[in-house]
Order: sequence, then structure tokens, then C-alpha cells
Amino acid sequence: MSLLIRNARILTLGQGTLARRGKDLRDLGLIPAGEVLVTDGKIAAVGAKVEAPADAEIIDAQGRVVMPGFVDCHTHACWAGDRLDEWELKLRGVPYLEILKKGGGIHATVKAVREATQKQLAASLRDRLGSMLREGTTTVEVKSGYGLNTEAEMKMLRAIRRAAAEWPGTVVATALLGHAFEGDLEDYARMVVKDMLPEVAKEFPDIAVDAFCETGAWTVEACVRLFEKARKHHPIRVHADQFNSLGMIPEAVRMHARSVDHLEASTKKDLILLAQSPTCGVILPCTGLHTDQRFTRSRLFIEQGGALALATNCNPGTSPSHSIPFAIALAVRFCGLSPAEAIIAATANAATVLGLNDRGNIAPGQRADLILLHHKDERALAYELGGNPVDVVIVGGKVVP
Ligand code: NIG
Repeated sequence: MSLLIRNARILTLGQGTLARRGKDLRDLGLIPAGEVLVTDGKIAAVGAKVEAPADAEIIDAQGRVVMPGFVDCHTHACWAGDRLDEWELKLRGVPYLEILKKGGGIHATVKAVREATQKQLAASLRDRLGSMLREGTTTVEVKSGYGLNTEAEMKMLRAIRRAAAEWPGTVVATALLGHAFEGDLEDYARMVVKDMLPEVAKEFPDIAVDAFCETGAWTVEACVRLFEKARKHHPIRVHADQFNSLGMIPEAVRMHARSVDHLEASTKKDLILLAQSPTCGVILPCTGLHTDQRFTRSRLFIEQGGALALATNCNPGTSPSHSIPFAIALAVRFCGLSPAEAIIAATANAATVLGLNDRGNIAPGQRADLILLHHKDERALAYELGGNPVDVVIVGGKVVP
């Protein structure tokens, strides 16, 4: 069965599957008034006018924007419990890293996750995935990292897989094996490399491996030890320079990491190095808004040719938001992105961070993960604060009821 969307302002986001940089990061591949034909879950044709079978189901976009579904490439959306008490402390000025040092923060969520069953974790993730889908996210990355022992990390990864199976969109799990530590970091990191990583790899052979390089979390040395082992079989990603610049970027670039995420405290030199490398930079402006009003110097990164992606970082500690439209609105206000750059960073470029080259643009053969906005001008996506700009969501060629 085919689906024809007509009378649409189409953002194709161009051809090709490489991350967009420079002027390509602003090129929406606009067809001001056009049609998209979807057959068997894929884009069959796109253009000003396309040939469609007589029995194709029809959506009349009435001049509104049709674009690829959002790809949220950095979330910690699988968690249990809440962090409302800690948030009150933060409102009174207690810094995030101090709460972490005192055994709160990530450790509070670890406790709640260990107490939850796999079924409970999957159910709460499933609820969050539902909210994401309603706001246009059709592909989402979800990290583990609140287990801090092999059993609980495996429970999280299985919960993510279970929730993914009940959701129409695509979930990409990431093994965040170096999020924090218990006891001595050296011993803990040794255990992760020797026991946890092989156990995870057995059941999730292609999964990306991630770590949080930060004062009070993992050191550069511990991250490098984990990544040198992991990168033989897994893509690697790293949280770096969220609060302190510890020197992780040159190592991540050397080890061909898929992405370096956060970058709020990066030095100019490191941002330029990253921008001129194949590794993507992922910005997380909801974190700046919620945590400490610090944002990545994204303009510098873009002007140096960087491949920039944008994500929500949905998590209970630093970013309680599941909304890519909201992240786009913040990226434009606080990180200096244009609306077009923010749109591409949250679609085409986010897909490359996840190693997915079958989505993020509207071209023949690509997955038909599409959204129809309420608006006739895509800049409204970035302009509106806190509403839902998405009217219709299509996943794999099917309209989500
Ligand atoms: O990306 N910084 C490390 N991880 C998350 C926060 C996780 C948490 O506080 O629970 C982040 O901001």
C-alpha cells in the first residue's frame, strides 16, 4: 500500500549519508510545494510532482511542512525513581558535582534502578518513548549507565530492548559502562573492562560504548583504557567537558569516536580539533538550561567545519525533557544555531552519530519516518517555546494513530 503526501513544503535535508558541515548544515533541500510518495515503508519518490498509484492513501498537507522524523541521539531515558529533592538543592545553589560527590545524583538513580525490575524499567521507558513520539522523535538512543554492576547494567539493556520492541519507532541502545563508579576507580574500571564489557558484548555485539569523562566520574586514563578495548568491536562515544575540560577530546579524536557529547567547558583549541576531525560534536542545551546556564560554543564549532548534532539528553538529573522541538528552541537561543542548522543537527546529523544511514533525509530508498508540522514555516519549530509543533507522525510508512 502506498501513501501520498501532497501540497507540502518539504524539507528533504539533501542527499547522501555523511554528516552535514559548513554550508551543508544550513541546506534544508527545500521543495516549496511538493509531494512525497511512500511505498512499503520507504520513500519511493519526492519532488514537485510524483507519479502515484491510483489507490494510494492521501494526506493533504495544506502547505504545511513535511520533514524527516527527529533523531534524538543522546538520552538516558531509562531510569527509575526521581530526583526532585536534589533538584530543590540545586535551585538553592548546590552544584551538580557536589551532589554527585556526596553520593547523590547519578548514585541516587543507580539505587532506584537496582531496586526496580526489568519490567518496571521497560514500562517507564515506554511511557517516555510515547511522549517523544508525540513530539516527532521517531528514532531515539537510550543509554544504560545507572546499573554500575554487570547485573544491573544488563537489566537496563534488556529493559531498553523490551521497551523498544513495543514502540513503533527505532531505539538504539548504548552501553554507558563508565558513567560513575563505586569504590576505587582503578579497580572499578578494571572490572568493567574485564567482566562487564565482555558480558555486554556477548548479548549486544554491535552496541556503542560510552563513558562520562569528568572530575568525580571517569578520568581520561580510565576512559582510554575502556575505549582501547571496546573500540576493537564497538563504536565509541564519550561525554566530555561538561563541567571541566580534562583533555578527553584529543584522545576521542585519536580513537575515532563516533561523537563527543556536551562540550560546554571545552577549550577553543579542543573545539577546533574536534570540528576538523570526522568525530561529531553533540550539543545538549536542555542541560545548560536546567543545570547551570552554560552552553557549548557551537558557532565556533560550526565555523570551523564541525559536524554538529543536537539531542535532548533526557535524564532525571540534568535534563528532564524528552522534547526535540524544545531542544531546537534552546539551541537557537543559547548556542547560536540558525533554525535550519538546528533542524539538520537533530535529524540528518543525529542519524550519523548513531551510524544509521537510512534516515534523517527524504530521498528515494530512505525509511519513511516523517513528520507533518502544524506550521507552514519551519522556523516556527524553533520559535515556539514548549508547545507541540507536530501534527502527524509517520513511522516506517505508517501513520501513528
Ligand atoms: O549527560 N553527565 C552525565 N550524565 C548525564 C546526567 C545523568 C544524571 O545526572 O543522572 C548527562 O548530563
